[in-house]
Amino acid sequence: MITGKTKITGIFGDPIEHTLSPLMHNAAFNELGLNYCYVPFHVKAERLKQAVEAIKALNIKGVNITVPHKERVIKYLDEISEEAKYIGAVNTILNEKDKLKGFNTDAYGFVRALKEKNINLNNKNVILLGAGGAARAIAYGILKEGANLSIFNRTLSKAYKIKDSFNFMGNVEVIEKIDSKIMLNFQIVVNATSLGLKKDDPMPIAPEYLRREHIVIDIVYPDTTLMREAEKIGCKVIGGLGMLLWQAAKSFEIWTKHSAPIEVMKGVLKNFNKK
Ligand code: ATR
Repeated sequence: MITGKTKITGIFGDPIEHTLSPLMHNAAFNELGLNYCYVPFHVKAERLKQAVEAIKALNIKGVNITVPHKERVIKYLDEISEEAKYIGAVNTILNEKDKLKGFNTDAYGFVRALKEKNINLNNKNVILLGAGGAARAIAYGILKEGANLSIFNRTLSKAYKIKDSFNFMGNVEVIEKIDSKIMLNFQIVVNATSLGLKKDDPMPIAPEYLRREHIVIDIVYPDTTLMREAEKIGCKVIGGLGMLLWQAAKSFEIWTKHSAPIEVMKGVLKNFNKK
């Protein structure tokens, strides 16, 4: 129930209609009896500055930032966390003591979702498909966990840009041409391209490059052609809902300082997956 004391949180994005975050966060607030609510805000790029200013003006407690604003929002904030600085993107803003602080919980979400499935990245060889915004956060998470990172992307210059940004964290290389032989070097394959969002999207790599020994992780959800093909081959396959869950849990904790009720949030996503 909304009262005079309700604290407002939400999400800024364009488009925003498909977001699952309000369902997850409102269920979580409800579970813990916290007087908070979470609402979607359809924010167009040309209104982003005004929207960020409104966080303070309206005393909004915090927001998530999603596509296409994660990078551009940084210049409107008072402070950003070290992770967000390296990744170059913010997905969570906290309004505290009249200061806006930006965080990135995507890298944490990715790593935590793998840990939940007993996948340890330390010393693993990981091939990351994609070099866009999502890939940058994941690259950071992969390197922070001590894996060796190889990046493959349609636009090579973007892969090299990630390499240059993250070289200081560990071993990073760019794969210019992919084939079955090169794929044998990797234990883990991560799709961080946007391919799979649309039904008729091509696959980010040809399925014949996969071996049953590969662990295949796709950040797109609910499921993609890549995931289905990998399952057929016998790979261990992990979809994007886990990352979505754990990044949300971390945002929840940043705003409320309470541990997120994971099972309740997971239940929300399970219901979505059934539909
Ligand atoms: P996001 O924020 O979801 O990461 P993005 O920054 O636009 O979105 O990045 C999209 C990623 O998907 C990029 O790696 C992009 O490749 P390019 O860097 O070459 O653009 C990749 N991608 C999108 N459509 C693709 C396609 N048809 N074939 C190959 N890669 C594609």
